[in-house]
Amino acid sequence: MISEKMVKAINDQINAEMYSAYLYLAMKAYFESQNLLGFANWMDVQTKEEMVHAMKFYGFINARNGRVQLGAIEKPPFEWASPLAVFEAVYKHEQIVTDLINKLVDLAQGEKDHATVSFLKWFVDEQVEEESNDVAVIQKLKLVQNAPGGMFMLDNELAQRVFTPPAVPVQ
Ligand code: FEO
Repeated sequence: MISEKMVKAINDQINAEMYSAYLYLAMKAYFESQNLLGFANWMDVQTKEEMVHAMKFYGFINARNGRVQLGAIEKPPFEWASPLAVFEAVYKHEQIVTDLINKLVDLAQGEKDHATVSFLKWFVDEQVEEESNDVAVIQKLKLVQNAPGGMFMLDNELAQRVFTPPAVPVQ
């Protein structure tokens, strides 16, 4: 039996993941406005991944016989100073998400809710990958320092990122 407190915390996490998707969609639009379509592709993939995260939490609440409750999604920013500023904002945001996931684990462990602890392990690992991906792009952006040739190559590289749908559909 999952506690009401745990269900509430996971519902809040659905909102955080939906906001992440919304934030990255806004960043995709920013890059499209700059005609940096490889960067925009990276954000497109990230947006879809965040939707998968949200739906994993959604499906888990249902599987535990809890009630999904959706809240309002905050408006994301509209403008950034540079591509580097965008990715620094991504990294900062993901560190906040990592903290949220860790707090969910703390709560589940405190309640001896082993099913939720087990479910959350995927997200703990995912956050390591997400932060690492962000840092990799930040380091490259610092390396090229807006030089047109470097930005062109990096845009081409980010165009290669592909969204891989989950093997088992989330619901
Ligand atoms: Fe769903 Fe980017 O963490």
